[in-house]
Amino acid sequence: MSAKPKLFMTREVFPEVVRRLEAHFDVEVWDKYQPPKYDVLMSKAAEVDALYTLLTDRIDCDLIRSSPRLRIVAQMAVGYDNIDVGCATEHGVYITNTPGVLTEATAEFTWALILAAARRIVEADHFVRWGEWWRLETGWHPMMMLGVELEGKTLGILGMGRIGSRVAEIGRAFGMRIIYHSRSRKPDIEDRLEAEYKSLEELLRESDILSIHLPLTSETRHIIGERELRMMKPTAILVNTGRGAIVDTGALVRALSEGWIAGAALDVFEEEPLNPNHPLTAFKNVVLAPHAASATRETRLRMASIAAENLLAFKRGEVPPNLVNREVLKVRPPGFG
Ligand code: GLV
Repeated sequence: MSAKPKLFMTREVFPEVVRRLEAHFDVEVWDKYQPPKYDVLMSKAAEVDALYTLLTDRIDCDLIRSSPRLRIVAQMAVGYDNIDVGCATEHGVYITNTPGVLTEATAEFTWALILAAARRIVEADHFVRWGEWWRLETGWHPMMMLGVELEGKTLGILGMGRIGSRVAEIGRAFGMRIIYHSRSRKPDIEDRLEAEYKSLEELLRESDILSIHLPLTSETRHIIGERELRMMKPTAILVNTGRGAIVDTGALVRALSEGWIAGAALDVFEEEPLNPNHPLTAFKNVVLAPHAASATRETRLRMASIAAENLLAFKRGEVPPNLVNREVLKVRPPGFG
């Protein structure tokens, strides 16, 4: 191919990353703050050789089928449940993601949520800011804003991958006992953190803090539903920085209303953005964030750059470093030629 391959980027990222891509691709950037609607994305995809996507972009089989030139989708995220990977593979479309670089930011944010929920930080801020503390004229009160201590408690990790294990490691610094459930056992982590492997049911029954770090797949969708939430301790806090649909939201709302669990801290939701009238927004014992766990300047720049590097490697005819669907190599070699 002599002309530059065409690339559609579904959102503006750091200018230096766009400039780097512009040297090698004929780039169109979607410059609105909102994601392109599905039909817009579909018509853009139909005309390009490559897509640079975010987790808000639905790349389904219809879109892939109607994009005959499309060779690669470089996703700026570790998760790629928005993409029909099986269909992409069948059609010889390479899918890449950005693993590793957001581990630290996501683990730190998970801890911000755990601490906020355990020590009622958001509620405390509102209590001071909106004048309730002032009106009560109490100053320091021995029974005011009591939370729970983490030292000696049990941290349950559901999904002991890169992020789960970093969250567990930080948990040790808080003097917590670590238990986990994962697709496979991790002997090195068991040794290093004295972490114990548990069945899902044991994990649910024993955790004081249960933190979810699973990818969303057909096996993990609603893996935490009514039955599971009822197994948890009434004093437990559920933390989700993975994907909203891992938890059945309706069941979670019932669990919180009826006190099956003590609270939740959520960065991800089945429907994003979360409607401000959603029942979850009414609970004082729920901390909410707008899918922002990886949102540090350092991490987002690394994510944006890695997505670009995957595109550039593909253009050079190399296997992109973060190829998700290796089977695609049997369908088509890398490159736009
Ligand atoms: C964020 O949720 C990601 O998957 O990168």
